[in-house]
Amino acid sequence: MCGIVGYVGEKKVQPILLDGLRRLEYRGYDSSGIALIEADGLRVYKRSGKLQALEQIVSEKLSKATIGLGHTRWATHGEPNDTNAHPHTDNHDNIAVIHNGIIENHLDLKKKLQEKGHTFVSDTDTEVIAHLISELYDGDLPKAMQQALKRIRGAYALAVISTDAPRQIVAAKTSSPLVIGVGEGENFLASDVPALLSHTREVLYLNDGELAVLDDQSVQIMDFDGNPIERATQHINWDVATAQKSGYKHFMIKETHEQPMAVADALSGRFDLETGEIFLDSGIDDEALKNIDQITFLACGTALYAGLVAKYLYQDWLQLPINVETGSEFRYSNPYITENTLVVTISQSGETADTLESMRLAKQKNARTLGIVNVVGSTVTREADGVLYLQAGPEIGVASTKAFTAQLTVLTLLGLYLGKLQSTLPQDQIKNALQTMHKAPELLRELLKKEPEIEALASQFFDVQNFLYLGRDVLFPIALEGALKLKEISYIHAEGYAAGELKHGPIALIDEHMPVVVLITKNSVYDKVLSNVEEVKARKGIIIAITDEVNEDIERVADHIIEVPATDKVLTPLLFTIPVQLLAYHIAVLRGTDVDQPRNLAKSVTVE
Ligand code: AGP
Repeated sequence: MCGIVGYVGEKKVQPILLDGLRRLEYRGYDSSGIALIEADGLRVYKRSGKLQALEQIVSEKLSKATIGLGHTRWATHGEPNDTNAHPHTDNHDNIAVIHNGIIENHLDLKKKLQEKGHTFVSDTDTEVIAHLISELYDGDLPKAMQQALKRIRGAYALAVISTDAPRQIVAAKTSSPLVIGVGEGENFLASDVPALLSHTREVLYLNDGELAVLDDQSVQIMDFDGNPIERATQHINWDVATAQKSGYKHFMIKETHEQPMAVADALSGRFDLETGEIFLDSGIDDEALKNIDQITFLACGTALYAGLVAKYLYQDWLQLPINVETGSEFRYSNPYITENTLVVTISQSGETADTLESMRLAKQKNARTLGIVNVVGSTVTREADGVLYLQAGPEIGVASTKAFTAQLTVLTLLGLYLGKLQSTLPQDQIKNALQTMHKAPELLRELLKKEPEIEALASQFFDVQNFLYLGRDVLFPIALEGALKLKEISYIHAEGYAAGELKHGPIALIDEHMPVVVLITKNSVYDKVLSNVEEVKARKGIIIAITDEVNEDIERVADHIIEVPATDKVLTPLLFTIPVQLLAYHIAVLRGTDVDQPRNLAKSVTVE
């Protein structure tokens, strides 16, 4: 969950590290720190709070150092304070370590090191690594690191510098992400690509169980026994501007407005409108996909709701059992999975620990695993049998927006593709669905023009305590997503329900103070949802109807109406997502919350 950066080269390192940390702040932000090797030794600066707090203490100090490490922390062990912030050092202040992940056996290691005379100052699991390397150091930093790695258990991306090897950074990873940026006469490392883009586009992804030694001129990759590993660099096309706010107040709203483009990119090159042919080269061959007899979606949070939408669509298109499983539950259950199960792992980051571990469990059971992922080269993409990228570009706001609509897009294409392979969907139905999907970017653009209307609505509801969201069929998951979006960025308590569930409990909550967002489309359950709205109305609830069917019935019951263009079921969930995102965003802005970095949340949850 933390963000790490490192640099070795000819340039002054301090601004490079601070810039990298700024771009990684979305990974965690309760404290930050840097370690620099100066001519007269190691210097460590760290502060709790946002990066600004660190910048204030280092801005006055004109460092000449050209090698260093930086870290932004999201606490797992030890409260967020100055002492627990990274980097951590050994007792001689020779070695500095930064770490993203959790060292599971840190207490045991700490006890043994204390017996050997090591003194610990923090409550973190990370500090043990600095002491362990110091204990094992015998004139060769990579070797000491290798030996240390054989003793530690857990998840980590870590990097180490030492005054005894003043032009070397040694880094390693297991489970947590780590990417190396290759420059000329300089090299970089980071948890994620945005931290590297202003310096280099040539990157090397480290795999689990690998160690890298960086100096000014070279990057050597090896396993934990020191056996060299050859790896070609990958070129990254994302531009730096894409990873910045482009004039919007927050990344979230910028990314909300990027959705027409993100959906267009997710569709791009993947079908022929004339013939209705779909091209999805995931790496899993068609023969295997033809033989699958069950589909299980694995995901967390917003990505889980994308899986739930897909379930409703796939049940119309495929004659297979379709399951949607929460990552954190699936991995501790005993799911029925066979070699003919297609396990579809949905993850923006490709690093969510709960999702990833679930996929690993499915792999152990010989399932075919397919990742639907945004971040290129992330762990899910490296471990799954096949990958379909979202192609949505970097998503920085903690609240997922464009990744969700891109997930819906790619999942829709996949469902149609499977329907064709399994001969359960007639070609003309596939063609019609593709023609509808083709219109998505334009319809999304139109819908986004409703932002001022939704902002005005937000101003009437920003100070309420609770919200309910109701929907049925494909709009039930969008009700869940609307409630999640609102609670995570505005801190208003919100719940999403299948509209029919209202009478089984939540109806007790309804009174004249309860706003109820009802998602209602003209489909087979339209009348049922309308009855549910009547139930709310009868109890004086405030009804905000989001609908593609404005008629007398709706006008009579609704206090507020947001109109969405009418379309087919295949596109309905995608369009209804925009108003719930905008409503949540503007309510949060009016409440003055930290929209892009809401309290207690992190963009990429790489711990269980
Ligand atoms: C969405 O707004 C959330 N912040 C969160 O639920 C997120 O979708 C979840 O943690 C899964 O992340 P992933 O897609 O990167 O796996």
